Amino acid sequence: MQKFVIQGGRRLEGDIVVQGAKNSALPILAATLLCEGESILENCPALSDVYAACRILSSTGCQCRMQEHTVHVTADAPACPAIPVSLMQEMRSSIMFLGAMLGRLGSCTLGYPGGCELGPRPIDLHLKALRRMGVNIREENGILTCTAPQGLRGARIHLQFPSVGATENILLAAVLARGDTILTNAAREPEILDLARYLSCCGAKIDGAGSSTIRVQGVKKLRGCTYRIMPDRIVTATWLAAAAVTGGELRLLHTDAASLESILAVLEEMNCRCSRTAESICIAAGGHMRAVRYLKTMPYPGFPTDAQAILMAVLCTANGTSVLEETIFENRFRHVDALVRMGADIQVAGRIAVVHGVRHLHGAQVSATDLRGGAAMLTAGLGAEGETILTDISHIDRGYDSPEQILRTVGAEIERI
Ligand code: EPZ
Repeated sequence: MQKFVIQGGRRLEGDIVVQGAKNSALPILAATLLCEGESILENCPALSDVYAACRILSSTGCQCRMQEHTVHVTADAPACPAIPVSLMQEMRSSIMFLGAMLGRLGSCTLGYPGGCELGPRPIDLHLKALRRMGVNIREENGILTCTAPQGLRGARIHLQFPSVGATENILLAAVLARGDTILTNAAREPEILDLARYLSCCGAKIDGAGSSTIRVQGVKKLRGCTYRIMPDRIVTATWLAAAAVTGGELRLLHTDAASLESILAVLEEMNCRCSRTAESICIAAGGHMRAVRYLKTMPYPGFPTDAQAILMAVLCTANGTSVLEETIFENRFRHVDALVRMGADIQVAGRIAVVHGVRHLHGAQVSATDLRGGAAMLTAGLGAEGETILTDISHIDRGYDSPEQILRTVGAEIERI
């Protein structure tokens, strides 16, 4: 079991090149299953979730290999329409393979996706949409058996909630379906647009990705292509928070400022100076941080739920009281206990957390509870006085590519043991 040992209080300064986006790479890896020939995915982050997705692709009969940050996938004849339960449990986003496998093979057997630490992670919206596209779904003792005897057909689908995963699964099932699919109340996250761009590059006909209404015209087949994964906006937010919490100054390169406006607005409200070009963001913490009266997580382009824990770690030592409301997931305050152990003053009631700023946090022994909760503890440890020992960092390795190496290059004192 690995851990990070962090000596807090070091001011971070310098340049960081931002990694490719996990939440774009995963659905795009699933999408390679739909294509004949080879797909070459560049700027793929080296993460345990990416390796898990490659194992799922291989288990279906695809050739999949990763070297450096490029993944080569050839899906000429995927044969096995089943995803082993063990691989499904490894990562929730494995549900993304359902749409792709149905699209290419017309059937799929898989285990119920691993319940993530953020509360129940239902897939009712995914299954309801796929049934409208002609999929028969049988569920018994945790195994889903999905078949489309007449193949997939395009349909008009309205999502009760703009679910990111459901939007992606519907796209993956629709691109090779017979006829047109019109999806309303679709999620608008930038990762959806990235997936649609990859699919279009392979020959799919998709309009409106990134907006609430997406139209897909089914085509006969898709051919693999070479595609560069977009930058990871939540990893960018994490490095921005690290600069804020250490009173530092960072320049983030190869990132996409346009997808971070909601986060930059909050950081500026907290007394950071942020400047941006098309491909970079500069942040300088302007003295002591100020509290944010009210911060509510919303679907994109609102403030992202994935950045809630990370920004909370900075607000723990801001001047004043901040109120955070988590509207997307039921149980996304699991990092609060660890922050309180480090000296934070936080009260949680349901989906509301009230953070009273304190002068500083002190190092402690804490364990990561989930991916972004772990990133929040890492952020808090960088700003705290003294030593923080952060265990269970496998959660962090799911989404961050060599974080300790990156942080050391800009002055952090952090070691992986
Ligand atoms: C994606 O998860 C991301 N994961 C999450 O990032 C992110 O937090 C989330 O979108 C919201 O932006 C990946 O892209 C791999 P949802 P997903 O479907 O698709 C409920 C990270 O840290 N819901 O938009 O699972 C669900 O329970 C991860 O990188 C249903 O009720 O998110 C949740 O409360 C964490 N029924 C809400 O909708 C469904 O069928 C949002 O879920 C589907 C979802």
